[in-house]
Amino acid sequence: MSKTLVQQQFGANAANYSTSAVHAKGASLGRLVELVKPGKDWIVLDVATGAGHTAAAFAPHVTKVVASDLTPEMLTEARKLAAAKGLANMETAAADAEHLPFGDQSFDLVTCRIAPHHFPDVAAFVGESRRVLKPGGIFALVDNVSPDRHTAPGFSEGEYAEAAATYDAFEKLRDPSHGRALSTVEWLDLMAARGLTLLHKEHAPKAMEFAAWCKNMAVEDETVLRLRSILASVSPALQSYLQPRPENDKLTFTLFELIALARKP
Ligand SMILES: C[S@@+](CC[C@H](N)C(=O)[O-])C[C@H]1O[C@@H](n2cnc3c(N)ncnc32)[C@H](O)[C@@H]1O
Repeated sequence: MSKTLVQQQFGANAANYSTSAVHAKGASLGRLVELVKPGKDWIVLDVATGAGHTAAAFAPHVTKVVASDLTPEMLTEARKLAAAKGLANMETAAADAEHLPFGDQSFDLVTCRIAPHHFPDVAAFVGESRRVLKPGGIFALVDNVSPDRHTAPGFSEGEYAEAAATYDAFEKLRDPSHGRALSTVEWLDLMAARGLTLLHKEHAPKAMEFAAWCKNMAVEDETVLRLRSILASVSPALQSYLQPRPENDKLTFTLFELIALARKP
């Protein structure tokens, strides 16, 4: 059911993601390339590529990038981006992150940016990423993480649990295809459990302009009002994480991305 929702939500709003500032110009794009240091001869898989921004960031540095996604309209946007940037080595493929249609040990690098919080079975996605990586290959993840001691220090485990549940409900109200944002600790445990060795982790706060965030998913006016009212009355732990504030006269809040690199032994 949630995969149908993903295709409906992203299918209807695909073009918004080709221009979305957070996706097209977010700091984690350049940072990921900088951290990974891709090799010229690498074959890369970008999972849940959306409008193709991460695939396009890596394409100039490698031999080939396969930009994959569940939503056909998103793949159309990714193809447009590749054509506009003259990236002849970027191709697209329909793929569910939890059942990747690629052979074992096919890729030097698997990337996935700002998407796993939509996947119903994140463990299956990590397992599939490991399977398609060559030995020594790199798994490079960027995703929004839930509030915890890394991103909102000074609260109790109970307060983090409440903040994480409210945060997911806030996201889900704006985009019903949102599943659950994992915490940093959950991500680290998951990668280790699936046989990936952590190479690097860091957190990157990103400013989210509330109106643009709603517009990306064509949120109805009544829901925009409800989202505003949630933002105005969050618990101290969630307040510390989201930091809602006016910036240049626009309501703005913060989300934290986990950027993590792990190696398949
Ligand atoms: C926010 S967009 C991704 C942004 C993109 N990676 C970037 O760096 O700009 C989320 C994408 O996840 C895709 N998606 C969600 N669930 C998926 C799944 N199970 N398998 C593959 N793609 C999925 C959606 O179709 C959508 O294109």
